[in-house]
Amino acid sequence: MTVNTPPVLSGGWPVLGHALEMMRNRESLFKRGFQEHGDVFAIKLGPRYAAVVSGAENNKLFYTQTDKTLNMQDAYQFLKASLGEVLFTASKEAYYNQRPALQEVFRRERMVDYIRAMNIEIQHWIDGLGDAGEMDFSAEMLRLAQFVAGHALIGPKYQKELGAGFWDLYLNISRSLDPILPPSLPIPKFRRRDKAKAAINHIFSGMIEERRQLPDQYDDLISTLLRTPLKDGSVMDDQTIINMFTGLLFAGHETTAGQAAWTVAQLLQHSDYLGLVMAELNMKLKPDSDLNQESINQLDHIAWAIEETTRMYPSADLQMRTVEQPLDLGGYHLPVGWQVIVNAANSHYLPEVFKDPYVYDPLRWSPERGEGKNPFTLVGFGGGIHKCTGMNFAKNEMIIIIVKLLQTFELELLSQEIRVVQGAGANHPSEIKIRYKKR
Ligand code: HEM
Repeated sequence: MTVNTPPVLSGGWPVLGHALEMMRNRESLFKRGFQEHGDVFAIKLGPRYAAVVSGAENNKLFYTQTDKTLNMQDAYQFLKASLGEVLFTASKEAYYNQRPALQEVFRRERMVDYIRAMNIEIQHWIDGLGDAGEMDFSAEMLRLAQFVAGHALIGPKYQKELGAGFWDLYLNISRSLDPILPPSLPIPKFRRRDKAKAAINHIFSGMIEERRQLPDQYDDLISTLLRTPLKDGSVMDDQTIINMFTGLLFAGHETTAGQAAWTVAQLLQHSDYLGLVMAELNMKLKPDSDLNQESINQLDHIAWAIEETTRMYPSADLQMRTVEQPLDLGGYHLPVGWQVIVNAANSHYLPEVFKDPYVYDPLRWSPERGEGKNPFTLVGFGGGIHKCTGMNFAKNEMIIIIVKLLQTFELELLSQEIRVVQGAGANHPSEIKIRYKKR
């Protein structure tokens, strides 16, 4: 057993350590740490130490030790105040008890309905754009991802059921996320969060009650969850169902919106590769037809573009755990109470894994090149038992958006510079101005 804890990165402040730098620009903090110490180093976040790790072997240990020596729920306490106790904010026991419900939501057969909902919402959005114009594609993607998640998870009448102000309530929840401040502080953003949570509870309670009263009229996800047995044979109580939907909508929309926006922006920045994408589209798909899983699976070049953007601009750029039992990682000892952070900023740019890592090169994901074969080198969707259950949902959604957009419009990227905007839940791109004209 090693006794040395990871080396601490220079530049920490008294008391606060690296917390301010982490809040301002975690990507550059992690890159600085990597330059100073390599794959494993420590930062100090207030009173706590966190080991920041990268590289396939260390990432693998992080994911495979989750729910064993590493605890996920404790690390994501700050999400619990916003989402309630569900999924990875619930206790380990509650999470495994709830897993059958999560598996029900993402049962393979359900994807057919989800893809149908995606086709409808995405086509509706395209039709609403008119023949020509300019748009902020980042903002458009956020709106569209809300509609897709609403339709797929709640049903075709989601707008009426959720009500006009629903997504504004949601915004108050996302904006309240704060990994540093105690979530019970009586400050305005936490008060707005609590009001929004109460309003969301009220909306979902009404929807649940209606399904309970009129079971013959509903066969959707809420009514399914009302009768899906959990591991211990019980069914979910109403509050957990509400938390589950709040959690799924949270996990599903900002991440997908950011990733979709970056993918399109990068395609427009690289006309050679866009040419390959268009050639594949023209060869394999009929124009104006809806997509299904079979046609989606044929579109290798778009799938590789999504992988490459996930590598270079991951929405979920860091994942966190707390050490519950001491463990050794990367030649260092991690004591109980430390946090561990897997970060994409370093993992996705390792030159021994990805050739010329700063170059946009989607063909690196082709089977011939096969870079990143090791499942722990690309961590944008996590890994191990808690790997994103919505990954296929998100990838299908992004592919349908890209296909319909490219088939309908000629696009011109007007923004010269696009920045990463750091969020507490997920990163997203700054404004992406695009000019479009019907083909
Ligand atoms: C590009 C879009 C997405 C990205 C980048 C993303 C990323 C992630 C990551 C990194 C994790 C693991 C977190 C960790 O280990 O700490 C995760 C978990 C999860 N994601 Fe996603 N996600 C995306 C879309 C979605 C969508 C669309 C849904 C649902 C409709 C979803 C639902 C979930 C759920 C339920 C979990 C928890 C799984 C568990 O704990 O077992 N995600 N996601």
